[in-house]
This record gives sequence, C-alpha cells and structure tokens, in this order.
Amino acid sequence: MAKDTSKGPRHVAIIMDGNGRWATQRGRPRLFGHHAGARRVREVVRACPDLGVKYITIFAFSTENWKRTQVEVAGLMSLFRRYITKEAKALHDENVRVRFIGDRVRLDKKLIDLMDELEELTKDCTKVNLTIALNYGGRDEVARATKRLAEDVAKGILKPETVDEETLPRYLDTRVLPDPDLVIRTSGEARISNFLLWQSAYSEYEFIDTLWPDFSAEELARLVKSYGKRDRRFGAVPA
Ligand code: FPP
Repeated sequence: MAKDTSKGPRHVAIIMDGNGRWATQRGRPRLFGHHAGARRVREVVRACPDLGVKYITIFAFSTENWKRTQVEVAGLMSLFRRYITKEAKALHDENVRVRFIGDRVRLDKKLIDLMDELEELTKDCTKVNLTIALNYGGRDEVARATKRLAEDVAKGILKPETVDEETLPRYLDTRVLPDPDLVIRTSGEARISNFLLWQSAYSEYEFIDTLWPDFSAEELARLVKSYGKRDRRFGAVPA
C-alpha cells in the first residue's frame, strides 16, 4: 500500500551543524567531523523518497565560513571536490537532481567545473531534488537578486510599479524551488545563520541537539512525522 505522505514536508532544508564538536569530542581534527558529516548527507538523501520528501536543501558552506582557518577552508573545499567526484555516478543512478545555490565567484575553477558537470549530468533526474548551498548567504542572495532586478529595471525589461513579493523570488538562486516546509538545525543552536531568509518566512523549524555526524535517516523520519502533526496557518485563523 502506498504511504500517505500528503501531510509530510515536500521540501526539507537542513543546517548541518556540529561537525567540529563531534570531532573534538573524539580528540580528532575538525575535518574528521566534516568527513563524517559528508557520509550522513548520503544516507539522508537516500531516505527522502520513502518519506515523501521531494526537495532537500543542505547548507554546506556559508558566506561567513571563509572566516575559519585556512586549513579548515581548504579542507572543506577539497571535501566538496571529492564528494562531487565520488558521488556523481551514484546520484545520477539514484535519479537525484543536484543543484547548487550561492555565489560562485569566490570558489576555485576546478570546483565550479565539477558543480557545473554534476548539474548537467543530473538535469533530467526526477526522484529527489538535492540542492547544495555553497558559499551561500541569505542576505547575499537577496542583494545579488536585487542587483539583477535593478538591472532589468534599468534595461526597461521590468517596470518598478509591477514589482511585488512575487517578483524578487524570480531573481533568487532558488527560483525553481518551492519554499522549504521544514527547516532542521542540528547541534542545539537555535538560530538560522543567514540560511534561506526569504524562503523560510513560513517554514516550520526543528532545532535538535544531535550533532550532524550522528544524524540519521531514522531521525529524519521522526521529524517528518512530527511535522505532519503541525498546524500550518500562514497567518490565517484555523477553520
Ligand atoms: C557546521 O559544523 C558544518 C559546516 C560548516 C560544514 C558542513 C559540511 C559538511 C557536512 C560536509 C559535507 C557536505 C557536503 C555537501 C559533501 P561546524 O564545523 O560549525 O561544527 P561546530 O559548530 O561543532 O564547530
């Protein structure tokens, strides 16, 4: 019998926090935690179809993460290159469409090429939509979108009087994605850290204590189930 996923979240977004602490607790360097975190991404993406989750968006690297040590930043960039190279075939075989959001300008050419290739390779995949936020910041995204919108006004393509809240999302990196229904942050911190600021205006939030490398498909299933019991009103009064 088909599962009733009608009340489940269609789009789940995750702030994968706690890799550093997880590694420190084990007396290992922070990058050890990031590698363990990358393995969780695989498990969580695989779990999505059965849970009725059609879109999953993960925060891999923020516009603020450049402030970390050079060793950690270089290690993360190398991990992203490795992840894409190693996972590309499996993602394609599992019918996962991969997209990247964020500003690519500060990323190295080799990584950008790999991102482009993975987007191209998976462009016809339909089972799950995985979006990886890399050098992403919500404010930065809105600023870049506003700049493009202003350019269209200057070119006469867009009239200022027609700009409303439907207009800006068409310029955001996420323009082809629905807004997230559920945003999860691991590791006990209760803040959104510049993630999907515009898009999560009406999202439900789950702040959980689990450190990201300990997160599992079972925990995602529990959160999806608990989301189904929530009453989303979008500002209206219940019927
Ligand atoms: C936050 O933990 C995590 C990050 C900044 C990096 C997230 C990256 C991964 C999970 C690696 C895999 C991702 C992909 C797409 C392959 P933290 O370092 O801030 O942890 P802490 O708060 O305990 O220090």
